[in-house]
Amino acid sequence: MNLLTRLNQVTAKTLFHTESLGSYFEPLIQRVKPAWRTHWFRAQVLSLKPLRDDVLQLELAPQKTWPQAKAGQHVLLTLEINGRLMTRPFSISSAPDQRQTLQPKKRVIRLTIKHTADGAFTSALSQHISVGGFVNLSAPQGEFLLSDSVLNLPETPLWLVAAGSGITPFMAMLHQLALSTHRLKPLFANAIQSPAHKPSNPIYVVYFAKAGEHLYVDELTVLAQLLPQLKVKLLVRKNGDNLATALQGCLASSQVLICGPGQFKQDVDHQLDAINHPPQHRQAEYFQAPILPKTDNGEQHIQLTQRGKQTQLTLATNDTLLNGLEQQGISATFGCRIGVCHQCQCVKKSGVVRNLRTGELSQQGEQLIQLCISQAVTPLELEL
Ligand code: FES
Repeated sequence: MNLLTRLNQVTAKTLFHTESLGSYFEPLIQRVKPAWRTHWFRAQVLSLKPLRDDVLQLELAPQKTWPQAKAGQHVLLTLEINGRLMTRPFSISSAPDQRQTLQPKKRVIRLTIKHTADGAFTSALSQHISVGGFVNLSAPQGEFLLSDSVLNLPETPLWLVAAGSGITPFMAMLHQLALSTHRLKPLFANAIQSPAHKPSNPIYVVYFAKAGEHLYVDELTVLAQLLPQLKVKLLVRKNGDNLATALQGCLASSQVLICGPGQFKQDVDHQLDAINHPPQHRQAEYFQAPILPKTDNGEQHIQLTQRGKQTQLTLATNDTLLNGLEQQGISATFGCRIGVCHQCQCVKKSGVVRNLRTGELSQQGEQLIQLCISQAVTPLELEL
């Protein structure tokens, strides 16, 4: 990092609690140029394809400077909808160096987007983008990755446990493993290179979805032919398929990756705990922050400062601060609502919050917090 970049970061953090000066001035620049985002990249839409009524597949060609993704990472996609910028995170479901026959010279990523119940973003998506148009993308993000140390131990079994659209990062990983195994030449000079050996770990995909709603069934069949060590179980919980049976054979030494709704992640954790699978051999990515049980009195006092005006509130401690503020009629800026986009960031002047993604408690003093994944643990002073 050069000195100017560091100076920019330190000044922005000290004065404005933002990552860079560009981030602080972003709202002002957006008044003139609404689609402007600092640190974001443009990507051209190459194709749009409905996989089901509620699932859309998008192929994008990011600009040349977009950093190379790793299998399992996600991106934030931003669109301007009715004059407002909205951002949502989506996993990349293609291998980082996947070939694309129609655009052999372009770097192409595939996103698989499920229409969500609150749906403001996903339902507007197909009206606001079209083939040939452009969207804003963040750099690839996330640490939900296959670790090289596991792939270098071929006797370590890999369990990829998914529910619903949680299969998407696993599709990226499986495609990447198939490319590595068959030593297909990476398409781009800066693509992830195949490991020196062919990964040969046993791989078990345990994939729960509603009957008839499993995604990429044909691709999984092809991948199972390319990767002889791959076994795929397509399961439907309502048909009596259960986690205990699905995870039979999972050893303490197995590396387990879980992706799906928050409740599904908790259920898998309980099952793995029951068979003494060590938590340090697990990684998880989940869609909603789990709701924790109420504390003894169930409420905390909040002093809120908004545009110089102070308000006293009482918020439930078993819900996120963002939900609590909205229930009191206070509007706060938000994007993804799951702790990824940082649009709901605000300054906590004092008090302790729990981060629902990590379970960690904050320090008592001033710091930036994300309202959508924070719960009050003590009385708080917040500045929006
Ligand atoms: S709304 Fe995206 S991090 Fe909170």
